[in-house]
Amino acid sequence: MPQIKAGIINVTGYIGAELARILCQHPQVELVTVTGRSAAGQKLGDVFPSFAETEYAIKAELDSEIDVAFSAMPHKSSAEVILPLLKQGIKVIDASADFRLKNADEYPKWYGFTHPSPELLTEAVFGLPELHGNEIASASLIANPGCYSTSAILALAPVVKEGLIYPDIVVDSKSGVSGAGRTLRLTTHYPEVNENICAYSLEGHRHLPEIEQELKTLNLSLSPSITFVPHLVPMTRGILSTCYAKLADSRRLTANSLKQIYREFYKHAPFVQITTNPPHTKHAWGTNLCLIYPTIDAKADRLIVISCLDNLVKGGAGQAVQNMNLLFDLPETTGLEALAIYP
Ligand SMILES: NC(=O)c1ccc[n+]([C@@H]2O[C@H](COP(=O)([O-])OP(=O)(O)OC[C@H]3O[C@@H](n4cnc5c(N)ncnc54)[C@H](OP(=O)(O)O)[C@@H]3O)[C@@H](O)[C@H]2O)c1
Repeated sequence: MPQIKAGIINVTGYIGAELARILCQHPQVELVTVTGRSAAGQKLGDVFPSFAETEYAIKAELDSEIDVAFSAMPHKSSAEVILPLLKQGIKVIDASADFRLKNADEYPKWYGFTHPSPELLTEAVFGLPELHGNEIASASLIANPGCYSTSAILALAPVVKEGLIYPDIVVDSKSGVSGAGRTLRLTTHYPEVNENICAYSLEGHRHLPEIEQELKTLNLSLSPSITFVPHLVPMTRGILSTCYAKLADSRRLTANSLKQIYREFYKHAPFVQITTNPPHTKHAWGTNLCLIYPTIDAKADRLIVISCLDNLVKGGAGQAVQNMNLLFDLPETTGLEALAIYP
């Protein structure tokens, strides 16, 4: 099979750099062109010393023929660069939120802009392979999910689909600071985040509408009401989400039968592991895994599900490559087999 020619738009952000790390080691991919704004004209290895052994030059625009483009642009700007590529027939995997939501009316409310191409929102496929693998395989435009959203949707999908919980759900998530991106901000400055934990976006985080959208699609009769509270924690990578919901009928379930339901639901999902102990963010560090630990608080008849992933891999660049593998009919795990780094 010929190599897939790939390009990365905005290689100088954290997701762009992580895409480059994964794609330049992918056995079926030739990374032929990468772009950046302020670093255009420099070598990637000059910007990121970890690429010193590579020859990639950062260009202002994609400048070679490609089969697939990965956009690692901020929202709004991403849609602007993607639309001309789609017109040229290039497959696009977008790490931003610009094509995740099916309802264009949500964009002004959550992202502060009017969507430039609402007709593409129905065509775009929400790139969560564990739920949409078949649609992804034939898509032209894949909307890679948000990092928090991936952890919450994968944690809750089996019980929502099976109607095992009441629709009143709490998702308490913690993220490492790379989730906020590479752009300098006071809130992610070392003295602000080190030895500190804080909740934020209590009035509604941008990932909430995509979590609601996907869980609603899984069970039209459940219509979940979700309180989602993200926290910033002093680590570089990783998300840990703890999800809570009242069990609809606790007599039907034990912790073991619940785990069995999760194992069955994800039996064809190579990157979802149902763990025997509560997972740590480090267990997924640098991998494309989502580790899920479902259990029951018997005293309160409540479901507890803990999920862990690396926000830059399964929460971003790795999931984008998983989507590319499906798009080009490769084994889903190609180029994504790395084990977690320990300790
Ligand atoms: N970080 C995560 O964990 C994560 C996970 C999933 C999805 N995502 C999504 O992936 C996308 C990239 O995220 P990120 O965290 O990699 O971002 P980031 O690190 O904050 O990206 C910053 C880079 O974007 C460039 N940039 C900013 N505005 C630009 C514009 N209008 N046009 C061109 N370049 C621009 C900046 O380059 P200059 O040096 O030129 O200013 C900077 O290098 C976002 O849409 C984000 O929501 C992020």
